[in-house]
Amino acid sequence: MTTYASTFIPGLGEVVTTALKQSLEEYKPQLLLDGLVVYRSTSSMEEVQALRFCNNSFVCLMSFDGLGQNPAARMSRALLADGQLSRRLAPFLPRKKSSYRFVASHANQFVSIPQRTRTSLERLLAGNQRLRPNHSNPDAELWLLSRREGFGFVGLRITQHTAYEKTLAQGELRPELCHLLCLIAEPSAADLVLDPFCGSGAIPLERVRAFPYRTMLTGDIDAKLVKGLRAKTRQLSRKIVIGRWDALDLHTFAPDSVDKIITDPPWGFYRKPHADLGQFHRRMLQEFLRVLRPNGLLVLLVGQPELFETCMRDFAGALRVVKRYDVLVSGKKASIFKIEKPA
Ligand SMILES: C[S@@+](CC[C@H](N)C(=O)[O-])C[C@H]1O[C@@H](n2cnc3c(N)ncnc32)[C@H](O)[C@@H]1O
Repeated sequence: MTTYASTFIPGLGEVVTTALKQSLEEYKPQLLLDGLVVYRSTSSMEEVQALRFCNNSFVCLMSFDGLGQNPAARMSRALLADGQLSRRLAPFLPRKKSSYRFVASHANQFVSIPQRTRTSLERLLAGNQRLRPNHSNPDAELWLLSRREGFGFVGLRITQHTAYEKTLAQGELRPELCHLLCLIAEPSAADLVLDPFCGSGAIPLERVRAFPYRTMLTGDIDAKLVKGLRAKTRQLSRKIVIGRWDALDLHTFAPDSVDKIITDPPWGFYRKPHADLGQFHRRMLQEFLRVLRPNGLLVLLVGQPELFETCMRDFAGALRVVKRYDVLVSGKKASIFKIEKPA
């Protein structure tokens, strides 16, 4: 069994651990913190790398509890005293020669490693013919990651995400978050799914790439975004239908016709403040509850959850909040609501 650690979007520990249990062989949880889970599994590194709902995953080589002041220094000292880094790392290294660097992070912020410590740590791997240090563009990273709670680990990072700030359009959700939204909506092959505020299409694209479905209906009020999504989906299945519409008036949809709505409606402060977001939410809920079938699910990412909760009070009896998850999206507080339309 290998010990892994995966980071994820804070607030979604319950969804992530359920998904890990379903995705991995012999999943044995060791520790769950907000945004970090440590677990043992017989699944391979490649299987853990392929998990679409985690931010970063690591093979854990050594772990620590009760780290006090200066955790990176304490973990470095322990690594140097142990002297077994090369042996611990060997099973997880690629066959070809590769380069590496040490990275330290505390409470999700990078921390610098003093030059002397770095040199001593690199000496631990100097005898390894397959590894050479490269501080600027290495093939692999060895992390000394610590958390405010006093937990830390030394781990080989096994995922390499693209720098999202360079690749995502403005307002586009990260694929991990879209995947988690889809999981919360209990995906099934029989689903007719709707995202009526699709923007650049991050949610519908993740839904069709990662899960089976019957039909994916998606659209936006913005003609440019709709055109962009049509171009992106040209090579994909015919089961994806893209429209330009006002999500507050989905008159082409029959009542009770949609199994799942998974969406990210306007947060109310993009470009210019929304004139009356409360009124917008009420009209949106009315339309969603009309098109959703009885027992259908609505999963929404909302930027102003308190206002949204107030609006939901007008629909008492017509909807049931199954769960609210408070999350952080690009450093901003937001909430995911899982709502059922009662039969
Ligand atoms: C928060 S963004 C969605 C971003 C999307 N999840 C993504 O990853 O790109 C909200 C979207 O709702 C669209 N929108 C605003 N008002 C709308 C309306 N009345 N009907 C349909 N779409 C609307 C906006 O054009 C914007 O693309």
